[in-house]
Amino acid sequence: MEKLIKKISTIMEDKFEQCGYDRQLCTVTVSNRPDLCQFQCNGAMAAAKKYKKSPIDIAKEIVAAVENEENFENVSIAGPGFININLKDSFISNYINNMYGDSKLGCTSDVDPMTIVVDYGGANVAKPLHVGHLRAAIIGESIKRIGRFLGHKVIGDVHLGDWGLQIGMVISEVERRNPSLPYFDEDFQGEYPETAPFTIDELEEIYPAASSLAKSDEKAMEAARKATFELQNGRRGYVALWKHILNVSIADLKKNYGNLNVEFDLWKGESDCQKYIPEMVELFKEKGFTYESEGALVIDVAKETDTYTVPPIIILKSDGATLYSTTDLATIVERVKDYNPDAIIYVVDKRQGLHFEQVFRCAKKTNIIKEDATLDFIGFGTMNGKDGKPFKTREGGVMRLQDLIQIIKDNVKDKLKETDTMTPEEVEEISRKVGLAALKYGDLSNQATKDYIFDMDKFSSFEGNTGPYLLYTVVRIKSILRKAEAEGINLSSSKEILHPYSSTERDLMLKISRFNEVVNLSFKDRSPNKICDYIYDLSNLFNKFYHDNRIIAEENIEKKMSWLNLITLTQKVLEAGLDLLGIEAPEKM
Ligand code: ARG
Repeated sequence: MEKLIKKISTIMEDKFEQCGYDRQLCTVTVSNRPDLCQFQCNGAMAAAKKYKKSPIDIAKEIVAAVENEENFENVSIAGPGFININLKDSFISNYINNMYGDSKLGCTSDVDPMTIVVDYGGANVAKPLHVGHLRAAIIGESIKRIGRFLGHKVIGDVHLGDWGLQIGMVISEVERRNPSLPYFDEDFQGEYPETAPFTIDELEEIYPAASSLAKSDEKAMEAARKATFELQNGRRGYVALWKHILNVSIADLKKNYGNLNVEFDLWKGESDCQKYIPEMVELFKEKGFTYESEGALVIDVAKETDTYTVPPIIILKSDGATLYSTTDLATIVERVKDYNPDAIIYVVDKRQGLHFEQVFRCAKKTNIIKEDATLDFIGFGTMNGKDGKPFKTREGGVMRLQDLIQIIKDNVKDKLKETDTMTPEEVEEISRKVGLAALKYGDLSNQATKDYIFDMDKFSSFEGNTGPYLLYTVVRIKSILRKAEAEGINLSSSKEILHPYSSTERDLMLKISRFNEVVNLSFKDRSPNKICDYIYDLSNLFNKFYHDNRIIAEENIEKKMSWLNLITLTQKVLEAGLDLLGIEAPEKM
């Protein structure tokens, strides 16, 4: 659907043209003085400069021209020539009735459909998922959902760290513990066992042990490096063991991401692009992009306009080994081959900003991706504890994601117990949903780039700008609708929302009408927090409307039906907004 603001702009632009002014000068915005008007147009000021007239005279002409405009009411001039616009109630209710009848609630993309890869997750195989990966998962999932809702083809890729030193550490630690396994016998010719020589619990104990040993013992570190090198060069037993590590780890990761309601289309990793590396490096060399620097093969990516140093990107180390940058470049080659994307969006810790700047510049310079493709880095800040330092367990260790989810769920559960009569299963299910909402909304309502403080009591509060408050609003609407049905009202007998009866109702309708605009803006800016702001405002307006009106007790049946429809639409918009954030509402709470 066309945006409400666009419809109003077009009407005003036509009037500008009719009066002999350039339509480009006419800009309409949502009023920042809602007590005075709904929309405002400051075009007369700009026109005054260009046409050397007084803004008030131009504004008068325009206002005279809109006098008979059927959709407007009360267009007036404020100050030196600002035009205040109010809409006819019928125009507003018409617009939201159309939204009501549309499966996408009126949302259509501002831009042509694109193919987009979202690279989020970034979990490392063999290492447990910790809170550092939480933000990537939550933000990336939301961006993926918003893009899809607008009709883009969006492919989510977990892009596992599955090829690095941590694998070598695990391999050499398993060998240390169990040297007789066939994986370590270089003469072994047979089939390797089908089951892994460890469970996920053992694997989660093996990696930290191996890592701390390697830190203190140079020999152990050397063994881990050697194992990594041999794995990467295809040593048969190591490849077989690596596959076990991958399978055991991925099964566990899937469970963990699943608990977060985060779903990837692709479970690819750094290892998948390895086969593209030799050809890519050849191409870089052939085309003369590379040169040698201290034995390493590098490409210059600095620009004259740089205000900070962007060092050359290293393609191969002096010993011929590949790096994180090589992998990310080869992954672009792979994605271009598989999907020819119009955009790749990376949701990664902001401390990797320089790395991605180098990778993007190199990809564009070497033309491994089409020139007009967008490469976007969404660098997120750190989730801190109340002490302002990265969030840790009470003992000071790294917090595992599954523990964090449990803690917040328990916190919510305590609150629920006090309030309602529910079966134990219901309490479980509801506290899971509300807990996740607290966690996700607490994260997404902040600008991604900023660090934020994980404040459990604040995040899980049922009041204020929180996930649980929004769910509570949805649940409240559902309960009103259930009451109406229990009274014998057939909710599908009428789908019409009549003109607003009061200003709180009108405000609610106007807010609803902006959904399309907000979804597009939040996708364009890659900022789910704009959706958070919107659904929070919408919830507040609904709650105001609810307090001012007695919906169930209303005797005028037409009015009551219209209200029931209005709150149904409010619920739909709220739930659609929540879904774009990856949040689900329970039936009750
Ligand atoms: N595995 C990496 C890490 O833990 C994150 C990967 C992000 N994605 C990428 N294409 N580099 O730091």
